[in-house]
Amino acid sequence: MITTAPGKLIAVAGIDGAGKSTLAASLHAALKDAGQDAVLIGKHTTEVPMSADLSAYMDQLNAVVYKRNADVGAACGDHYWLFALAAWYTLQDRLVIQPALRAGSHVILDNAHHKILARYAINPDVPTGLARQVFAHLTPADMVLFLRLTAEEALRRKQEFSALEAGRGGANNEAFVSYQDDVAVQLRQQADDHAWTSIDVNGKTPDLVLNEALLQLTEHFGLQLA
Ligand SMILES: Nc1ncnc2c1ncn2[C@@H]1O[C@H](COP(=O)(O)OP(=O)(O)OP(=O)(O)O)[C@@H](O)[C@H]1O
Ligand SMILES: [Mg+2]
Repeated sequence: MITTAPGKLIAVAGIDGAGKSTLAASLHAALKDAGQDAVLIGKHTTEVPMSADLSAYMDQLNAVVYKRNADVGAACGDHYWLFALAAWYTLQDRLVIQPALRAGSHVILDNAHHKILARYAINPDVPTGLARQVFAHLTPADMVLFLRLTAEEALRRKQEFSALEAGRGGANNEAFVSYQDDVAVQLRQQADDHAWTSIDVNGKTPDLVLNEALLQLTEHFGLQLA
């Protein structure tokens, strides 16, 4: 029997605007360029290989979770959104991420659950232990690249943000910075886990950030990426 070595799950974490999607996309391209089998999975990845039915179902769930207006969001409440997100992350893990890893493909995961957990950890209306538990069964990442950026710099990069990204504390810049500072504290607590690797991205170009990330992958997994 021929067995394939499972791929590595590489997640990207950081506050809103830290550069997660930018790094995830360039990392995916770099791995492919180096001849590695890799898939990029993000917020709207709903394709389940070889199953039109499951892909269609994932698409519907994605719309339920992400395509709603602010009034609907507020009316449903924080517990509902925690469970809806848990449903989404559960299916994406089971139907998309795990099969890819088993097939030997590396998975670059943008928009992993870590930021959601950090947000719920500072939400006084939902017990943190509950939020932790609804994500506890997800496949642990082999590496979490934690992009550390000040909230002020994230604001400069993003220029605009949603009410959610300001913690519903108002739509002003101060609310964004103070909320993101709190989220960063929670992310740093998660970063105690051995799989997490911090990269200080303040003042670094996307290329520099990519190079640091590639260095980490080479060091930890011995991937030939040059
Ligand atoms: N190293 C960098 N230097 C300067 N600007 C950057 C850098 N990386 C990304 N950006 C820019 O910053 C903005 C936010 O980046 P990106 O969308 O990748 O962040 P994100 O962490 O995925 O954000 P979100 O949490 O909103 O999904 C984008 O406009 C992007 O082009
Ligand atoms: Mg993003």
